[in-house]
Amino acid sequence: MVPYGINRFFVSIYMEIDINQKITTMYVKTYASAVHGVDATTITTEVHIGGPVSAGKPGYNLVGLPDSAVREGFQRISAALKNSGWRLPRLRIVINLAPANLPKQGSSYDLPIAIGILSGFGKIPPAIIEDYIFMGELSLDGKLRPIKGALPIAIQARKEGFKGIILPVENAKEAAIVNDIDVYGVASLKEVVSFLNEETDLEPTRVDTRAIFHHDQGEYELDFADVKGQENIKRALELSAAGGHNVILIGPPGAGKTMLARRLPTILPPLNLYEALDTTKIHSVAGILPSEASLVSSRPFRSPHHTVSDVALVGGGSHPQPGEISLAHNGVLFLDELPEFKRTVLEVLRQPMEERKVTISRARISVDYPASFMLVASMNPCPCGYYNHPEKDCVCAPGIVGRYLSKISGPLLDRIDLHVEVTPVSYDELSSTKRTSETSADITMRVIRARAIQEERFKEKKDVFCNAQMPSNMVREVCQLDDDGRTLLKKAMERLQLSARAYDRILKVARTAADLDGSKRIELPHLAEAIQYRSLDREGWAG
Ligand SMILES: Nc1ncnc2c1ncn2[C@@H]1O[C@H](COP(=O)(O)OP(=O)(O)OP(=O)(O)O)[C@@H](O)[C@H]1O
Ligand SMILES: [Mg+2]
Repeated sequence: MVPYGINRFFVSIYMEIDINQKITTMYVKTYASAVHGVDATTITTEVHIGGPVSAGKPGYNLVGLPDSAVREGFQRISAALKNSGWRLPRLRIVINLAPANLPKQGSSYDLPIAIGILSGFGKIPPAIIEDYIFMGELSLDGKLRPIKGALPIAIQARKEGFKGIILPVENAKEAAIVNDIDVYGVASLKEVVSFLNEETDLEPTRVDTRAIFHHDQGEYELDFADVKGQENIKRALELSAAGGHNVILIGPPGAGKTMLARRLPTILPPLNLYEALDTTKIHSVAGILPSEASLVSSRPFRSPHHTVSDVALVGGGSHPQPGEISLAHNGVLFLDELPEFKRTVLEVLRQPMEERKVTISRARISVDYPASFMLVASMNPCPCGYYNHPEKDCVCAPGIVGRYLSKISGPLLDRIDLHVEVTPVSYDELSSTKRTSETSADITMRVIRARAIQEERFKEKKDVFCNAQMPSNMVREVCQLDDDGRTLLKKAMERLQLSARAYDRILKVARTAADLDGSKRIELPHLAEAIQYRSLDREGWAG
């Protein structure tokens, strides 16, 4: 950091040189950042101003693996400089984005490059700009447009000891949840230059992360108390939240499947600050944080439409971006009308569900996005929607029901512990004005208790945090049954003609029911409850 007086000194010297057009060569550095996955790397933007531009030669060279958006930036930058009132001498400009082996993508290098050029031409003292990370896309009139990934950029900038970070005002709150670094949100290039020249004062954006977190945490507009009746379904969702079990809701149109699924995040244990930051990082990288928000402090609920592409669901693209499964990290991914999704799209879910992250590999770089989510799916039992309906008749031709179900692959169904049949509530229940139902907060208390038991149980185990995540060998160890339990399970499997894959799932869910009860052993009622959630495994179902 150069003392204030010296900055002034530089400014005056540079201005003189500029006015007299005596610049021959000049070298300056500014700092920017590249986001890959959910982490950032500092990029040095070197600007070299050379001699006069020879006839027929370009006046501008950009090197260091820029993509076309970075390259096109010069058009934006030169228009923005002109429209902001700077007439620069026609000298050759070489820009290097280092490290040269890391691909640079997107339009947010406009600002660091423009600042480097202005500094090279003596409009800003070079020493002061080295204290900051600059990021922002320029519009032709010199205004700044928001960027993606402000949070990881700020985290990295603090790690490397930068004094501050200067970015578009829309991203300031998002970056400011990182403490101990000054975040300046600016609206235009002119504003940045006059701040760096100490002509105007800017207040760094301050955000009290903990206060926001505690204030907004677990704030949901929805509540289970809005759902009339459906006590058995609420109980199934409570089990699913308590053990982290994926769940599928099967029922006719209008039975309330979507309504129930949307309320699942409201009964999950509240996010801790670490999880909130982790989720916010992904939303920041995807550029979907609203400008007034700093932190995602409630569990996300994502419900992509069934026409979603593989890339939009799991992430990817030529400039890798997180997909829906990562945006649902630490929350719920809801796939409404599961059989309508393309089979290939559902297939790509399998690996991330297992690994709780998705790896996207490209020629030069491979990035990981976290993707630890609970899957909630819904489906009609058949194309007409009324198979197994208590009152209406199903009009589907024989065999159609089976074919409809077979659209969902076995391996995906294998990862779903709870199959819940939803029947519509009666008119009387629906029209009752009583609010007798429990609230989401009441249910969450029980879920938190059950999760605490699991935390204790799995504290020695790596990568297992809740019952749903137990591998097969651990199920045998943790979910032991007594003789009565074994007899009941055997009978149930035979009578309901359950397939072998149902066995482990039933034991896991029974373990969760016991945890909710605070019981060390799996008792018969726990087991009996778990057995009823295997509808889709029943041989007779959809036969
Ligand atoms: N138990 C309930 N309590 C209160 N409202 C309900 C209940 N069940 C259904 N509804 C009402 O019915 C509407 C339709 O429910 P929802 O969209 O969840 O049905 P669905 O099962 O998802 O149907 P579809 O298969 O057509 O998607 C809800 O928006 C809600 O207003
Ligand atoms: Mg629905």
